[in-house]
Amino acid sequence: MSAVWSTLMGEALELASKGRYGVSPNPMVGAIVVDRDGLEVGRGYHEQCGGPHAEVVALAQAGSRSAGGTLVVTLEPCVHHGRTPPCVDAVLAAGIARVVVGSRDPNPLVNGHGVETLRAAGVEVVEGVRGEECERLNRRFGHWMRSGLPFVTLKMAVTLDGKIAARGGRSRWITSEASRRAGYALREEYDAILVGIGTVMADDPRLRRHLGLNPSPHIVRVVLDSELRLPLTSQLLSQEPGDVIVFCRAPAAADRGQELERIGVTVVEVGPDERSRCELWPVLRWLGSHGISSLLVEGGGEVHWSFLREHLVQQVHAFVAPLLLGGKEATSAVGGLGFGSPQEGVRLVFEEVRRLGEDVEIIAGVAGV
Ligand SMILES: NC(=O)c1ccc[n+]([C@@H]2O[C@H](COP(=O)([O-])OP(=O)(O)OC[C@H]3O[C@@H](n4cnc5c(N)ncnc54)[C@H](OP(=O)(O)O)[C@@H]3O)[C@@H](O)[C@H]2O)c1
Repeated sequence: MSAVWSTLMGEALELASKGRYGVSPNPMVGAIVVDRDGLEVGRGYHEQCGGPHAEVVALAQAGSRSAGGTLVVTLEPCVHHGRTPPCVDAVLAAGIARVVVGSRDPNPLVNGHGVETLRAAGVEVVEGVRGEECERLNRRFGHWMRSGLPFVTLKMAVTLDGKIAARGGRSRWITSEASRRAGYALREEYDAILVGIGTVMADDPRLRRHLGLNPSPHIVRVVLDSELRLPLTSQLLSQEPGDVIVFCRAPAAADRGQELERIGVTVVEVGPDERSRCELWPVLRWLGSHGISSLLVEGGGEVHWSFLREHLVQQVHAFVAPLLLGGKEATSAVGGLGFGSPQEGVRLVFEEVRRLGEDVEIIAGVAGV
C-alpha cells in the first residue's frame, strides 16, 4: 500500500504548491480523498489565507463517499480554531477511516495534537509519507514557526565577477529581462522585501509586485535607514506608503519620523549595531511578530553583509549575468569587511542551478538549513 500512498502524496504535493502565491503566512497544503475501494473521490488545496483548508475542500468534493475512505494530506490536519474551524473535526464528521500524513505541523498549536486526536478517535494514521518533501515545501513557514523570525532569502542580480553595481553605483541592468521577470516572480511569493537606504538613494526603486500572481498587489516594503534619510519624494513612497516600514536607529530625528508617519509610513526605532547602524535581530523579531514569515532581501552589498555576518540568511537566490565589471569601487554582492578565512565564511549548498536566457539562476541554501 505504501507505494500507492507515496504516489497520491506526490499528487497532493503538486496540488499544495498551487497555493504558493496566496496562502502566506499559512502553510501550503494539498489533500486527496479516496473511497474504501481506493477510487479518488475528492481533491483540494489551500488556495488563500483565510480560505478553506485543503482537507475541507477535498472532503466537500467527496461528500458521503469519504465514509470509510482515506485522506492523504501533505500536512497534519489542524486541531485549533484559527481563521477557520479545526480540520480534524471535518475529518471525523466525514467518517474517514485512515489519514495518511506527509509532515507534522510545526505550529505549536497543532504539532502532534492533530494526529493524536485522530488516533484517539479510532482513525488509523500513517505518518511521514514523503515527509522530507512535505517539510521542504513549507520550509519558510517552518522556519518562521520555530524561530519567530522570517525566512530570509538574499536576492541578487550579479556579474560573473561578483558585482551588483558598476563603479559609480549604476546597476541597471546587469541581468536579462528573463532574470528580472524571475526576480519579480519571487516577490509574488514572499511577504516582504527589504533594502538598505544605499539602494534607495542609488536606484530609487518602487519595490512593488508586477506580475499579478499573488491575489494581493500589496507587499510590505522595508528600508534600513539609520538616520531617516529616506526622501519623501522617493518612488517607494509614491504609491501605498502604508505598506512601507522604515527601521531607524534610536533615537532618530523625531521630525523626520513624524513626516514619514504622517503619510502612513511605519517608523520603528531599533538599537545600534557595532557600526552604529540598525541592529538586525530586533528588525527581524519585529517583522516576525507582525506576521512576516518570509523576507526577500534585495540589497545592496552592505545589507547583504550584515545579514550574513549575523547568520540571519537561510537562502541565496542569484541571477548571474555573463558580464564582468571589475574594479574595487564597483559594489560587491557582499560588502562589509568580509570574513577572515574560508572556514569562517557562510557555507552554502547549491540547490538548483539552471540557464535562464543568457544568465544562470542559482539557488543556494545555507548548509544545515
Ligand atoms: N544588482 C543587484 O541585485 C542590486 C540590488 C540592490 C542594490 N544594488 C546596488 O547596490 C548599491 C547599493 O548598495 P550599498 O551596499 O551601497 O548600500 P545598501 O546595502 O543598499 O545600504 C547600505 C546602507 O543601509 C543603511 N543600514 C542601516 N542598517 C544597516 C545594517 N544593519 N547593515 C547594513 N546597512 C544598514 C546604512 O546607511 P545609514 O547608516 O545611513 O542608515 C548603510 O550605509 C547601489 O549601487 C545599487 O544599485 C544592486
